[in-house]
Formats: sequence, structure tokens, C-alpha cells
Amino acid sequence: MDYHEDSARGAWGSKIAFIFAAAGSAIGLGNIWRYPMMVGLNGGAIFVFTNILAVIFIGFTVMLAEFAIGRHTRKNPVGAYNAIKPGTHWKLSGYLNVAVGIGILSFYGVIAGWAVGYFFKAITGAFRRDLSWFDSEAIFKNFTADPLVVFVCFSVILVLTVFIISKGIKGGIEKWSKILMPALFILIIFLAIRALTLPGAGRGLAFYLNPDFSKFNGTVLFFAVAQAFFSLSVGNGAMMTYASYLSKKDNLVSSAGWVCFFDTLVAILAGIIIFPTLFTSPEIVPGEFVADTGLMFQVFPMVLSKMPGGYVFGVMFFTLLLVAVLTSTLSLLEVPTAFLVDEKKWTRRKAAIVLGALAFIIGIPAALSNGGVKLFTKWGVMIKMDFIFISLGMTIGALLISVFLAYAWGVKNALKEISFGNSRFKLKALWIFNIKYLAPVVIVILLIIIINIF
Ligand code: PFF
Repeated sequence: MDYHEDSARGAWGSKIAFIFAAAGSAIGLGNIWRYPMMVGLNGGAIFVFTNILAVIFIGFTVMLAEFAIGRHTRKNPVGAYNAIKPGTHWKLSGYLNVAVGIGILSFYGVIAGWAVGYFFKAITGAFRRDLSWFDSEAIFKNFTADPLVVFVCFSVILVLTVFIISKGIKGGIEKWSKILMPALFILIIFLAIRALTLPGAGRGLAFYLNPDFSKFNGTVLFFAVAQAFFSLSVGNGAMMTYASYLSKKDNLVSSAGWVCFFDTLVAILAGIIIFPTLFTSPEIVPGEFVADTGLMFQVFPMVLSKMPGGYVFGVMFFTLLLVAVLTSTLSLLEVPTAFLVDEKKWTRRKAAIVLGALAFIIGIPAALSNGGVKLFTKWGVMIKMDFIFISLGMTIGALLISVFLAYAWGVKNALKEISFGNSRFKLKALWIFNIKYLAPVVIVILLIIIINIF
């Protein structure tokens, strides 16, 4: 059956539309905000290389698994697990995905809100003067500590996300992703070139791209794999849900390949912008600076304030950052929305509004944890939520997806689904090995290491 016959749930207009939407989900704060922070926290280049390997061997593997399960069942994660293994506990994995989606949205939305605030700052010329690292640090700290501004910006993101999700697949998610993703891409390349031509860029590049293998350890590996999942939107059913609107004619393998490629490219380019710019500031010493949640928000204004035409590019950059962020928040909300629509027969609109309100409530402590309320700041609520929902929630989700596909649904059945739209799957043997052994074993070992560390 072609998806057009099942259009009541919604469907993508074409394979390209799907790739843009999936890349839109993947490319977001994870690439531009979290990736450089993770590189900074985990020893620089060694993290970069470990993460690339994690994307190729594990991220791609699990993404394809999500695509196969999603398109085969045409359902949200709870419905999908239940359709393949009815009456079993597997549907709990689907519930985990739904909960993680809301959990991430609640603090991701706060940071996305910072992007809204910075967009307005860019428009009003706040980054026009030649800013030092310390100026931009002060701007960031004052901004995130102001509860009123933070809540207004957070609400703007949630309202926009709810609005677009209510419009459905083609008229909502697809329409937005298709035009704005390519624009983001062009801008990021431009900014990378500018950052590379800043005086002293070499110091930053060395930190970023020259690996120190002695820094490799279990923690680096864990965060590199978890970052791959987060950045690719893999492990919480987002790709499963997006693939549930996909046609049997489309090639799942090449789609997954393109999404992984674009996502990794944007992350690498974001690092090329951040590190050379960061280290042009003589106050910053590689190995001594502490990467934190403010890294991106402090570096960009600095580079923009120093470049010719920085005002225009600043406005454009933050506009496009907003778009990248929005195409990701859409997919975070789409997972629980699809669940309520498919399983509980809610209307899209009602589901999106109720879930948006829920994300707002759960996000309150995160919104107040950057100076707004001392206790939340002390607890480091945002970093804790990041750890629980991203590092643990998505990693466990990815483990369950691989085990489910390999040992409950069966590789043979999955390969049959993958063969629609792709008669010759060249990397079949490698994928089978990775989904059956590599991904589950690596993830279990990592979870054991990390539980012992924390
Ligand atoms: N991949 C997104 C990013 O890199 O910003 C974050 C994300 C979106 C994770 C959607 C999970 C998800 F379902």
C-alpha cells in the first residue's frame, strides 16, 4: 500500500521532503550548541574523531532501524512496538520514547528560547561593537538570569512549535523544513570561512582537529556515542515517527546516509566556527577553559561583532539558528503528538496544545537554572536534565531499538522492509553485524561505565 492511501495520518510529499524534514530534526542545537560544548568538555579532537566513528557505525545503524520500524508500522513508537510484538512489554520502550521527547523538549525549548532572545539582540544591534570574550559572557549571563525574558522566549518557541505541529506533516513540518534548511547550510559555510580567517585561528583549530590520543577514555566514548544519538535524533522514536509518514517507494538506506552526512557536516562546521573564534581571545587557554552551556552564545556574538557586515550576518545567523532549532523542536513534539493522535484518537491540535503546556511546566526549573533561582542554579538543573534525558534516555532508547529489531522483530523482516525502494543494500552484512552485536554491546558497556562514574 502506498502512503497516499493512508493520507489521513499525513504523508511527506517526496523523498527529498522527508530528507529535509529528518535533517531538520537532526540539525539543531545539538550541532551548533551542544557539540562544541561536548568537544570542549571531552578533550577536543579526540572527541571529534570518536564521535564521527560513532555516527558511522552506531548512529547510522540505529537510524536505519528506526526508519524500518516506522515505515513498516506507520505508527508512533508505542503503536509501532505494539504492532510488531502485540501484548508484550515492548510497548514500554515506546512510552520511554514519548516521555524522553517531552523531557528533552522542556529544556531544549529553554535554550531554543535563548536563540529567540539573541535574534532580537542581533536585530537591535547588541553585537555591533567589537566585543571581547568577557563582554559577551556578561551579555549572556545577564540575559539567562532574567526570568521574565527567558520565559517569554521559551513560550515563543513552544507556541510556534505547537502551531506548526497542529498544521500536520505536509502543511506544517515539510513546508518549513524545505526552504530554510538549505539557507542555514549556506550561512554556516560562510561563517566558517570567516572564523578560519580570523587572526590566531590556528590555535583553536589545533585544539579542535589535532587529537591527543592519551585523552581517550570510557567517558569520552560514552559522550561521543550519546552525542551521536542526540545529534542525529536517534534513540527516542523521532526518526521512527517521521519514517511512519514515508512511502514504500523511498530508499531508507540512502535517506539515512544523507541525514547522517548533513548532520555531521553541520556539527563539524559549527566547531570550525566556534574554536578558532574562541581561541582568538588571548584570555582563553586550550585545556584550561571550561566549556559550558554558554559557549555558543558567547562565541557567535564575538565573531559577528568583529566581522564586516556582522550586523546583517548576525541577524541572518540567528534567524537561521531559530529555524534549525524549530525544525528540531517540531520533531520532539511530533513523537508524543503522534502517540496521542494514533493511540488515543486525540485531534492533532488538542494533542499539540496539551503537550506544549506540559513541556512548559516541566521546563520551569530549567528556565530558572541559569541564575534565575539560586537553588536551581546550584543543582545545575539543565545539565542534569541533559544527562537524564539525552545521555541516558536516548542511549537506553537506542539500545532497546537495536535489541528489538535484531532479536524481537528479526533482521530478516527488517531487511524486507528496507528492500522496498532499495533492491541492492550494499552494506547489508555490515549493518546486520552492527545492529545485532556492535550497537547493543557497545551501548551496554558504556552504560555500565557511566553508571559507575556517576
Ligand atoms: N537532533 C536535535 C539536535 O541536534 O539539536 C535534537 C533532537 C531533536 C533530539 C529531536 C531528539 C529528537 F527527537
